[in-house]
Amino acid sequence: MTVSTVTATRLRPQKDIPGPKPMPILGWKGTVLSYMHNPLQGLESLKNRYGEIAAVPAGGNSESGTGTVVIFGSVNNRILLSRADTFYNRPAAGVAAPDQSATGRKRVLLRLGPGLFGMNGPEHRHQRTDVTPAFHKNSVPFYHEVMVEEAERMLSGWAPGTVQEIWSDLMSVTLSVLAKTLLQIDLGEKAPALSLNLLRWLNQASKLPVMLFQSDVPGTPYWHFLNLSEQVEQEMTTLIKQIPGGIKYGEKNVLSMLSRRQNPSSGCPFVSDDELCGHLIAFLLAGQTTAPTLVAWTLLLIAQHPNVAEKLYDEIEKALGGRSPSIEDIDRMPYLEKVIKETMRIFPPVPITGRYLVEPVEMSGYQLQTGSDVICSIFHAHRDPAIYKDPLAFNPARWHNLQPEFYEYLPFSAGAHNCIGSIFAMRWMMIVLALIMQRFRLCPVPGRRIDVAVKSTSFPKSGMPMAIFKADGHFGSSRSQIKGNVNWFLHIN
Ligand code: HEM
Repeated sequence: MTVSTVTATRLRPQKDIPGPKPMPILGWKGTVLSYMHNPLQGLESLKNRYGEIAAVPAGGNSESGTGTVVIFGSVNNRILLSRADTFYNRPAAGVAAPDQSATGRKRVLLRLGPGLFGMNGPEHRHQRTDVTPAFHKNSVPFYHEVMVEEAERMLSGWAPGTVQEIWSDLMSVTLSVLAKTLLQIDLGEKAPALSLNLLRWLNQASKLPVMLFQSDVPGTPYWHFLNLSEQVEQEMTTLIKQIPGGIKYGEKNVLSMLSRRQNPSSGCPFVSDDELCGHLIAFLLAGQTTAPTLVAWTLLLIAQHPNVAEKLYDEIEKALGGRSPSIEDIDRMPYLEKVIKETMRIFPPVPITGRYLVEPVEMSGYQLQTGSDVICSIFHAHRDPAIYKDPLAFNPARWHNLQPEFYEYLPFSAGAHNCIGSIFAMRWMMIVLALIMQRFRLCPVPGRRIDVAVKSTSFPKSGMPMAIFKADGHFGSSRSQIKGNVNWFLHIN
């Protein structure tokens, strides 16, 4: 008997994976809803109760009745994320990706569908390769000046003595940076409204009533979602028309890179107009819902940890001496990088990711079936006490000598679908944080709750208002007593 046969005979079937039971009266729907209500707390209870693997027979490919498997730990994370031909990705906003047979107003969603997120196999590999130069480490320094300029423009609107809703400002300026660098478009005054619409669209797409009842009946959540989708589609189409030089190979915008491959018989690009629109919204959303949130969390954590703030302020003062950051200055702020890494550990902007199986696979001694959904918690990987001592403490200094393995620290995910914008995001976050710290001291508004919402990304549910002071180094007076579910995430008070 060969070794592989021995392993195979010992594998237990997927139906034996332990997991929660159906709720009385509400059944499996009730169980799933109770977990989705607070997804991270739900995953935590699964982990505490069942260990590295748990399952519910809901979700997955309903025809084969396979269900959803939840996994924890770096070994399982590696299997899930490194085998792109076994585990396929679904689009981030699932409801916004109907198949080509969609009819009526639903067809607008075909133009807003999944970008790189929902592509798999050779199609994903080719299109990702084509756009990679726009995000490559050699290209990103070319964006540096735009990033500095836009951050300074935002900060010229902040005044000491006022309270500023920093999260929405950061989203809107990030959208402007993405439009200028990737599309060569200056959004100007239109950025805040567009940014708000994109965020509303993403949030509506992941609302349960929108996902569960997809009929276009006036007044229903799905009808409102389609109205907003039409508006967003118009906005994307207008943006595409504004791209200087249009979309053709050789032009300096990220969408033109996708027109490199042509069908030899028709001479037309392989990527359709609808797909281009899908790529555009995916790039804009992926950028504007992650980096700004991370910057907002970082500013909150800095305010609550005066010793970190002081050290950071000193580093920025020494590196910049009151100037705007140059390309070279970025490497002179290693502590800033650690502060960002630690914030991404505690608040990974994409806390949960998942794939579905296109062939059977072994995990934790079970044989998982084709069609199953498999969910992995980036959030919980970052809180393993065996790797991160005192995981609920915000401690950038831990990064002086900590080198977790790839699948133990993965804010940008890993494998074929890892974040294509990670270098772009790191540079932008460092620039904007350095400039904010150089000019202002920010304090949470006393008495305001801060709650973390978790959808396809995590974010501050009611925004992040902060009181603005001139940079004076008095970090001891920045702290506030913080209420809200953020206290579940870390020791913040
Ligand atoms: C702090 C900032 C960011 C974080 C934490 C982040 C995180 C992630 C993660 C975890 C994924 C993979 C999701 C999965 O496993 O399915 C991802 C994918 C992606 N990200 Fe980011 N992201 C950030 C910023 C950006 C920016 C600025 C851009 C664009 C300029 C961007 C563009 C993308 C795209 C296009 C993908 C899909 C890649 C693919 O499927 O091949 N991200 N990001």
